[in-house]
Amino acid sequence: MPEMKQDFLPINGTDHIEFYVGNAKQASLFYQHCFGFNLVAYAGPETGVRDRASYVLQQDKIRLVLTSSLQPGGEITEHVKKHGDGVKVLALWVDDASKSFNETVVRGAQPAFAPQTLRDEFGEVVISSIHTYGETVHTFVERKNYKGSFLPGYKSIKGSFKPAPIGLKHVDHCVGNVELGKMNYWIDFYEKVMGFKLLVTFDDSDISTEYSALMSKVVANGNGYIKFPINEPAPGKKKSQIEEYLDFYKGPGVQHIAIATDDIIKTVSELRARGVEFLYVPDSYYEDVIKRVGKINEDLHELKKQNILIDRDEEGYLLQIFTKPVQDRPTLFFEIIERNGAKSFGKGNFKALFESIEREQELRGNL
Ligand code: FE2
Repeated sequence: MPEMKQDFLPINGTDHIEFYVGNAKQASLFYQHCFGFNLVAYAGPETGVRDRASYVLQQDKIRLVLTSSLQPGGEITEHVKKHGDGVKVLALWVDDASKSFNETVVRGAQPAFAPQTLRDEFGEVVISSIHTYGETVHTFVERKNYKGSFLPGYKSIKGSFKPAPIGLKHVDHCVGNVELGKMNYWIDFYEKVMGFKLLVTFDDSDISTEYSALMSKVVANGNGYIKFPINEPAPGKKKSQIEEYLDFYKGPGVQHIAIATDDIIKTVSELRARGVEFLYVPDSYYEDVIKRVGKINEDLHELKKQNILIDRDEEGYLLQIFTKPVQDRPTLFFEIIERNGAKSFGKGNFKALFESIEREQELRGNL
């Protein structure tokens, strides 16, 4: 029997995703109103935090934190000035934040901050943090001795506005865009420093249109709960969507966050009704899609009506859709995904997707 190697970085799941934004108060209302999140906690001047305001939103297992600076200088202000609104922290839920820090730093991770214990009347949380691509960090959160709503320093809040949840369940994967030639560097980082395994590789023969192409590899942690695809641009006739991202984000960063639902038709129709915009998919996509993917349980007319994409792999099929960027810079967007057995990422949709992304790029004059 082969010897099982001990996972040196066991991860229970995504703890939270923190965005640095220009106006957290308004951003938090966007995610409440449009995406059906509920406000659960807050930190700011009223709770003794002087330099920032943070709103914690939750839906099922997903926690988003929206943070703004209250001062003209400092890390948050500089981040927003350079990148616009974007993801700063992909936080990972672990049983031992000190060990997670030590095991990754000894393997070459750049520390963001060393383990520290935060305490309040609900118990204690240990957090530590390491750098990944661009200015993004992975914060390890150990909360087994904590009963509060988020972290010490945050106050539980029940807003009077209680939007109904729309079926968003958990984070399926988070995608990073890195510079040309840097994809393998970051894949190596996740393999060596964090003990992740390579799942799949796409090259520009899989993912290319006349104008735009990308290379992508996907790494996952031991239990598969954390999946990080990493993209880099590939040469095309005109600017690829990854280059457009890098130009406007001013460097590498999180490109999209994919969120799982059990009923994508219902979730997407709710999102549309609340004002979320999605990439357009041409009618012609649906003409031969069943030939490509075979039998599916959903009504094709409903999928077409919502512009939902379909793909199949050896283990099943998946349904997915991509929002337009959720801020003015063409940077971060969301994916909604429903998996029916398939463990892949919609490779067969890439070409159809990129053709529709390029139409949007053309409208912005960036193609
Ligand atoms: Fe994705």
